[in-house]
Amino acid sequence: MCGIFGYIGKRTDATKMAVDGLKSLEYRGYDSWGVAWKNGDHLDTKKEIGKISGVDGSLLSSNCSLAIGHTRWATHGGVTIANAHPQFNADKTIAVVHNGIFENYQELRDELKAKGHTFVSDTDTEIAPHLIEEYLKQTDDFAHAVRLACQRFTGRYAILAVHATSDTLVAARTGSPLIIGVAKDGYFIASDTPAFMHHTRTVQYLDDGEMVVSNGNSIIFTDIETGEERHKREIEITINLEQADKGNFAHFMMKEIMDQKESVARAVNQSDEEIMTVANAIRDAQGTFLAACGTAGKACMAAEYFFSVVSEKHVNFAPASEFKVYHHFLKKESLLIVVSQSGETADVLEAMQVAKSKGAKVLSIVNVEGSSIDRASDYTLHINAGPERAVASTKALTGQLAVLLLVAYALAGKLQEGKKLLLETASMINDMLNPRYIERLSQLAERINHKEDLYIIGKSWNYPMAMESAIKIQEVSYIHAEGFAGGELKHGPIALIEEGTPCIVLAGNDEVTPDILSNAVQLKARGALVIGVAPENNEIFDEWIKVPDAFAAQALVNIIPIQVLAYELAIQRGKDPDMPRNLAKSVTVK
Ligand code: AGP
Repeated sequence: MCGIFGYIGKRTDATKMAVDGLKSLEYRGYDSWGVAWKNGDHLDTKKEIGKISGVDGSLLSSNCSLAIGHTRWATHGGVTIANAHPQFNADKTIAVVHNGIFENYQELRDELKAKGHTFVSDTDTEIAPHLIEEYLKQTDDFAHAVRLACQRFTGRYAILAVHATSDTLVAARTGSPLIIGVAKDGYFIASDTPAFMHHTRTVQYLDDGEMVVSNGNSIIFTDIETGEERHKREIEITINLEQADKGNFAHFMMKEIMDQKESVARAVNQSDEEIMTVANAIRDAQGTFLAACGTAGKACMAAEYFFSVVSEKHVNFAPASEFKVYHHFLKKESLLIVVSQSGETADVLEAMQVAKSKGAKVLSIVNVEGSSIDRASDYTLHINAGPERAVASTKALTGQLAVLLLVAYALAGKLQEGKKLLLETASMINDMLNPRYIERLSQLAERINHKEDLYIIGKSWNYPMAMESAIKIQEVSYIHAEGFAGGELKHGPIALIEEGTPCIVLAGNDEVTPDILSNAVQLKARGALVIGVAPENNEIFDEWIKVPDAFAAQALVNIIPIQVLAYELAIQRGKDPDMPRNLAKSVTVK
């Protein structure tokens, strides 16, 4: 995680651009922030604990053309000023910002200590400026010293480095994302495009094992191992600035929940040919696996039911972080489909490498075009949800569910029927998301916002949505929520139920409805406050949240009131729904 940003060029407001760039990267981590900038023949720096939101970067320096910055999600070392980035060598001539983890940092730190280096932080990152300093004893070429140091690192990383007496900005990556923004008056290098999209839409992508060095007038790409020069195409990216802004909403989370009035239809608006390509790949494969993390993983779990019920096809889901152990039976006829909003999740990229090492085909369903997962896939379907900034994923999930259900219908030879159902569902969602509905859920939140435990049950595709509901409520309200398959309750979890324990029951109008309602009766018998999310009311429900009857697309509509409820619970409990504690939007470390 973490967001990194750098600028070198003719403009003299580099520190202001660095701070503004970090603000738009804050969804990647907000434990602390820091900037270093070149001031004559020395480096100045500013580091602070907490969010960068209210900082005015122009106060740092009014005349600076080279700056790097960082917003942190702590992995190694607590949230302190000493552990904030940039990290320096002892005489502060070298500054480095880093996204990722140097897995061999202890070994390198011991080697450097033996050479007399002293360390002031608990971070893995601090080894980098010290190691570069060591290699500067062999060469006075700063970029070369950085390359030699990068050849020693193991793990996934992206770094930016500057030197007090060198008018260059150097960057390198293996695993974590880095994108170059090409402007007429300089170069931007950042973890993601929002950091510089106000300045340029012309980008160049840095691939794994590559580095760049720029003096502000030109930029050179080289391979870290061989030193060979690489040539990169300039690509114009299309970003709708308005979509990336929260408009009149207080928070991105609510803005993105309301975006579903259009985003589900956008996800469905795929060319038949593109959908059929994925469906045919599944048909022809000998074993199809789905892998993803967190919320995207819940979309994949629901897809196991979509393929079973709609296309009578068995597919296997595995959390991407667990996928590595599958290598034993993967083969070149196997198919891996990965799902990711950001397209940068480290565990998913690793699962792709495992599948590729076995010669298997890798398809992906992503939201961020040009992301590492998008570019590393044999084939990609985009969900067209638009930028998703709130850490809690909402519109990306319903987009992923819509595309996966569409593929299931295509595999059953009923693509147009699937499109019709999903477009009808999209318009039902459009009607459902109105102020009266939001107010209803806010009232429900009032009734349970003092509770510290909450349970959700579901059956069939509502079971993964019960688990997704738990993630949403956990990550923004910090209530201990858990999702279960309704039938599993009586095998243990029901022991947790006491008088007034809120229990949400996700239901549809199908052959499994009687089962989940009888599970709700068992909860009621133990004194639970039963909250039904279903097309029809039932006497078992103490509270009923009405949702449209959407048959195989029920998962899409049932999760939306839960997203709103989680948001309302967060607000009523005084939490920030956009930047919850201990989390970040894009998880670029394993
Ligand atoms: C969801 O609200 C969380 N932010 C998290 O579980 C997320 O879904 C997970 O990290 C996967 O991210 P991705 O879709 O960008 O790969």
